[in-house]
Amino acid sequence: MAHPQSHIDTFEALDASEDIGSNPNPRAPISDIIAARFGRRAMLSAGAALAALAATPEAEAQGLIPRQGGPSSLSFPELRHQLAQSDAVAEGYEIQNVIRWGDPVLAGAPAFDATRVTADAQALQFGYNNDYLDFFPLPAGSTNADHGLLVVNHEYTNTNLMFPGMGSGRESRTRSNAEQTRAEAMAHGLSVIEVKRTNGVWGYVPAGPHNRRITAETAMRISGPAAGAARMKTAADPAGLRVLGTLNNCAGGNTPWGTVLTGEENFNGYFGGDPAKTPHQAIMRRYGIAGESWYNWWRHMDRFNVEKEANESFRFGWVVEFDPYDPQSVPVKRTALGRFKHEGATHAISADGRVVFYSGDDERFEYVYKFVTARPWNPNDRAANRDLLDDGTLYVGKFHDDGKLEWLPLVHGQGPLTAANGFADQADVLIEARRAADLLGATPMDRPEDVEANPVNGRVYVMLTNNSRRTAEQVNRANPRARNMHGHIVEIIPPGAGSARVDHAATEARWGIFIAAGKPGVDAGAQYHRATSDQGWLSCPDNCTFDKKGRIWIATDGAPETSGVADGLYAADTAGHGRALTRLFYQAPTGAEVCGPCFTPDNKTIFLAIQHPGEDAGSTFERPSTRWPDFAEGVPPRPSVIAIVKKDGGEIGG
Ligand code: FEO
Ligand code: CA
Ligand code: CA
Ligand code: CA
Repeated sequence: MAHPQSHIDTFEALDASEDIGSNPNPRAPISDIIAARFGRRAMLSAGAALAALAATPEAEAQGLIPRQGGPSSLSFPELRHQLAQSDAVAEGYEIQNVIRWGDPVLAGAPAFDATRVTADAQALQFGYNNDYLDFFPLPAGSTNADHGLLVVNHEYTNTNLMFPGMGSGRESRTRSNAEQTRAEAMAHGLSVIEVKRTNGVWGYVPAGPHNRRITAETAMRISGPAAGAARMKTAADPAGLRVLGTLNNCAGGNTPWGTVLTGEENFNGYFGGDPAKTPHQAIMRRYGIAGESWYNWWRHMDRFNVEKEANESFRFGWVVEFDPYDPQSVPVKRTALGRFKHEGATHAISADGRVVFYSGDDERFEYVYKFVTARPWNPNDRAANRDLLDDGTLYVGKFHDDGKLEWLPLVHGQGPLTAANGFADQADVLIEARRAADLLGATPMDRPEDVEANPVNGRVYVMLTNNSRRTAEQVNRANPRARNMHGHIVEIIPPGAGSARVDHAATEARWGIFIAAGKPGVDAGAQYHRATSDQGWLSCPDNCTFDKKGRIWIATDGAPETSGVADGLYAADTAGHGRALTRLFYQAPTGAEVCGPCFTPDNKTIFLAIQHPGEDAGSTFERPSTRWPDFAEGVPPRPSVIAIVKKDGGEIGG
């Protein structure tokens, strides 16, 4: 990747085991089947597997082939690709900054001062590196589109851009002192902020009554099958039922009963010390804890040193649920959804009322999961749904070469998930979900990010961001390119998709490839609608959302610097003549990724989280590659949430 400081390379190259992925056997048996069917030579050539898929008559019948007709239903004039210090949006639209890193959130918070970033101030201010966004209308239960609560994940911190004197590069993150480390911990977690649109302009309410900061030290409850398990117990929590904080909250989701879910992703990066000096070396290795922390936290906070607290890392890697309308609510780690590097967890309601949560494990050669609640949700009694996420079945995806997707249950006692293989109970299966999925024969994917159902057509879209390490021998139909630098999007078609009764809970579905990213004509195997313009191609899909018309909006993370293209937001039809015709709508400032695309209920605003602006090679606090959005001397770049509105007040995308 020619983006050495990007989230992808900085964060994942920091840990050698992460760099190649932690899956010890990433070659799916499926590649053998392809080799047998299409010939090894065909399998080895980039794009051949894609072509093979496109040739399946069944795929054609299901509308999996991008249409050639056009035009797109999206009416905005396409933005031109750029790589610049500032951001840009399509003509006819306006960018409004809603809140920036360090802005006051809670009562008593000081104003942001780039020279005084302290733990105490940061605990009351907006956190760093905003990622997932969700909008909850005020009052609760309304569909108000001009007033609500914005829930924001703060995934990680850029030590070298937060504090002076840190230099640049990987080592800068391990130069923070005890106070700076605590400030970083306070800059993690989430913010809940009250936001309002007044005279067409979005702003937030400092010290709003619902405003909240959740940090790496907020008290949380552990629930579900792994609560109280031996490995969940620590010196500070002998019962294994309570934990401080949530880490590396990347994407998220929500529930039909109005709570938020936040995914704990690269939690491994915070733990230091030698795993060989604990009883858990093998499992730590499988999750990327290999003795080389990405931060200095473990030197200043004992629980992140595995030699001092061997079990703390088991208490991260979960999905956390909380009620955004109640600032006193205690967040709950829902262990039934499994422990892995959750990008997020998005829901779809299945035909019988059970709720299905899709979640990707974002690492090279990891898997796609879904959780199905045991019972239907109750739309008439919010309290009845309170613990719905504690009881259900976790499944992992196996993508067959014939277009069939099989969901394999991670249930203790079934198949290989027995005591003979080291799983004493369901808690063990969930804590070691990755190893359980290995044994079931799940398909290793090219870094699954968002997995999200389109409410209009019932199909589920899997963002596979990239995988530079996949070799020709490891290619399979669902991950058809070796050295996949640009990623692709898999489209899952559950039974009943397109009708009013979609069976998201079914254990089988069909799948195909929606787009294969990269620049057409340059990057082998790139595949879009034939009319996609030179501005419309994209790289590294990460987050997505859908508008009321069922069109997909794709945010990217990791566009290669060499292509002269920053990360951006692209939109495409998912059906009809413009299917898979991606168009560039917004482009981020240099170094930033675009996260958290989130529409208001009227689709007249889209919120975006602009994460790690200025995260370029050589960028420092003193000499950052951009000072977006303030552009004031001495002020470093500030991750911010922006709102994009149409100047004529219409719906986004037309
Ligand atoms: Fe934090 Fe999967 O991106
Ligand atoms: Ca991110
Ligand atoms: Ca992400
Ligand atoms: Ca990403």
